[in-house]
Amino acid sequence: MNDALLQALETRRSVKADRLQEPAPSGAELDRILAIAARVPDHKKLVPWRFIVFEGEARAKAGELFAAACQAEEKEPSHVRLETERARFLRAPLVVAVVSRVAKRPGAPEWEQILSAGAATFNLCLAANAMGYGTSWLTEWVAYSPTVREGLALAENERIVGFVYIGTPMEKPEDRDRPKLADIVSRWAP
Ligand SMILES: Cc1cc2nc3c(=O)[nH]c(=O)nc-3n(C[C@H](O)[C@H](O)[C@H](O)COP(=O)(O)O)c2cc1C
Repeated sequence: MNDALLQALETRRSVKADRLQEPAPSGAELDRILAIAARVPDHKKLVPWRFIVFEGEARAKAGELFAAACQAEEKEPSHVRLETERARFLRAPLVVAVVSRVAKRPGAPEWEQILSAGAATFNLCLAANAMGYGTSWLTEWVAYSPTVREGLALAENERIVGFVYIGTPMEKPEDRDRPKLADIVSRWAP
C-alpha cells in the first residue's frame, strides 16, 4: 500500500494562481512532469492532447495577446482591465496550456479523446504537486477567445483544456467542502 500517495490524494488542493511564487519546475523536472502528464489512458493511442509551456518572458508576451484579444472582443475595455490581461500569466512563474486535439477515428469517440485530455491535465497537476509545487487548473475567458486561439495557433480540431499555473505555494490553502459519498454513490441493485 502506498500510503504517502493516498495521503497526498486525500489532502490535495489547488493553490490560487496569484499565491504561486518562484521557484517553478524547469528543465529536467518540468520534462518529468510533462512525461507523467502524457502517461494517461488514451483509447486507440491517438495522443489527443499536447502541451504549450509559457515560462519567463513568454508569459508577458501571452499577456500582450490577451490584451489585444480583450480590445478586439470587448467594448472599450478600461486601462485597468488591459493591465490585468497583460499580467494574467505573470500571476505564477510557470503556465502550461493543455490542448485537446481530436481526430476522427472509428471506435474512439470525440468525448473519449477529450476525457483523455482532462486526465492528462490532472496528471500534470498531480506530478507537479508530488514534487512540492502548487497548481491551479484554470480556463477563464482566454481559453475560449477566438483571438487567443488564433494567437496560440490552435488548429480547428484543437481546444484549450486548461491553463495550469504552477509554482511554489505562498501558504497552504484551507480545505474546502467535498461531496458526501451518500450523495454521489449508489449501488446498483436491480
Ligand atoms: C476544466 C476546468 C476549468 C476550470 N477553470 C476555472 C476557472 O477558470 N476559474 C476558477 O476559479 N476555477 C476553475 N477551475 C477550478 C479549479 O481548477 C479548482 O479545481 C477549484 O478551485 C477547486 O479547488 P480544488 O482543486 O482544490 O478542489 C476549473 C476546473 C476545471 C476542471
